Amino acid sequence: MDAIVIKGGARLGGAVTISGAKNAALPLIASALLTVGKNTFKNVPDLRDVQTMANVLRGMGAEVSGKRVLRVDTSRINTLEAPYDLVRTMRASVLVLGPLVARYGRARVSLPGGCAIGARPIDQHLKGLEKMGAAFEIDRGYVEARCEKLRGAEITFDMVTVTGTMNVMMAAALAKGRSLIENAAREPEVEELARVLNKMGAQIHGAGTSVISVEGVDELYPVEHAIIADRIEAGTFMVAAAATGGDVLLEGCLPEHLGAALEKLREAGAGVEAAPGGIRVWGHGTLSPLEIVTQPHPGFPTDMQAQFMVLAALADGQSVIKETIFENRFMHVPELNRMNANISVDGRTALVRGPTEFSGTIVMASDLRASAALIIAGLLAKEGTTTRVRRVYHLDRGYERIERKLRKLGARIRRVKES
Ligand code: EPZ
Repeated sequence: MDAIVIKGGARLGGAVTISGAKNAALPLIASALLTVGKNTFKNVPDLRDVQTMANVLRGMGAEVSGKRVLRVDTSRINTLEAPYDLVRTMRASVLVLGPLVARYGRARVSLPGGCAIGARPIDQHLKGLEKMGAAFEIDRGYVEARCEKLRGAEITFDMVTVTGTMNVMMAAALAKGRSLIENAAREPEVEELARVLNKMGAQIHGAGTSVISVEGVDELYPVEHAIIADRIEAGTFMVAAAATGGDVLLEGCLPEHLGAALEKLREAGAGVEAAPGGIRVWGHGTLSPLEIVTQPHPGFPTDMQAQFMVLAALADGQSVIKETIFENRFMHVPELNRMNANISVDGRTALVRGPTEFSGTIVMASDLRASAALIIAGLLAKEGTTTRVRRVYHLDRGYERIERKLRKLGARIRRVKES
């Protein structure tokens, strides 16, 4: 198993290229099941989760090849099952449910089970597909879905759900008639999926707003598409730049995808400006405390909460962070406190007292974004102390070679094998 070892004290400087978005790549690969033929996705991030989704499709008979350019050939689908062994490692595998029911009238998908950051049920996914006429049975931990032909319906989600919106939107694209999806997620990854579905021949309007209308069509066709940049990876590097007092140009990311996070960076006192082909972020002087409430897009993203907690710990004063999306997303707190932070949690609210002089030690990653926060704290640890982040397999799910990218920016960081 790998660990990442970091010596603190470096100011990050230079340019970093942001990879393609994980949370766009996963639904796009699943959407290939709506077509019969060769799809080509470019700017695909080389991540463990992408390989997992590719394996889910391979298990159904798809031919998937390549890495940064991923070819997904769905000409010979012969099994309509997403097995427990894959779904339990990546709950986003549930994104095959909508396309399979819509294209093949049947699907057998393992229920994802619990997750470190919350219960994360899929009741809204099922509710939406049921409204379109699908029938479900839960059989030994699997969802068995059946429907001769989905029909358009009006669906209002009880809460905003990103992959729920994606699953229902993909299904509605091949349903008979018109669907209206209300209280839909507005994330840039939902917009990206709608863009690609429309390229396949779908008729989707309103993606990026909370009301999406879909006019079902009979057939969708394979496409070629280059995936948008990963706004969460970009946000992570921005926080690292500001926190280390560095100056970094983030190439390839889109300011309009990062509104709320950029706003909080400015509030903290970091410098932010649009630059040709990206965004420049620099840190200077004392940081100010923050008030953060995570919300669905365009609100402050929950996937940036842990990273901003490290930034808040540097500020002179008390910051308040409220996590409204997931019920258990503060597992980085005890690890940051082991690095000399002073953070207390009461339910879904964390109080962060600063300024903090982080001190390097051994810490344990618990989930993807928590591990990114520990890496940033390691960059900040006082001279002469070393941080060892264990269980970095969490990190590899969503960050492509993060230690190499950070080293290129001047960080003293390396990956080591641990018995
Ligand atoms: C997506 O997860 C992202 N994953 C998550 O990113 C992200 O944190 C999350 O959206 C919120 O922005 C992918 O895109 C692959 P939700 P998703 O359905 O779709 C509840 C990362 O770090 N809910 O929007 O699974 C749910 O429990 C990951 O890259 C139900 O109750 O999240 C949660 O409290 C982590 N029933 C809330 O809604 C449902 O049927 C929002 O979840 C669906 C959701």
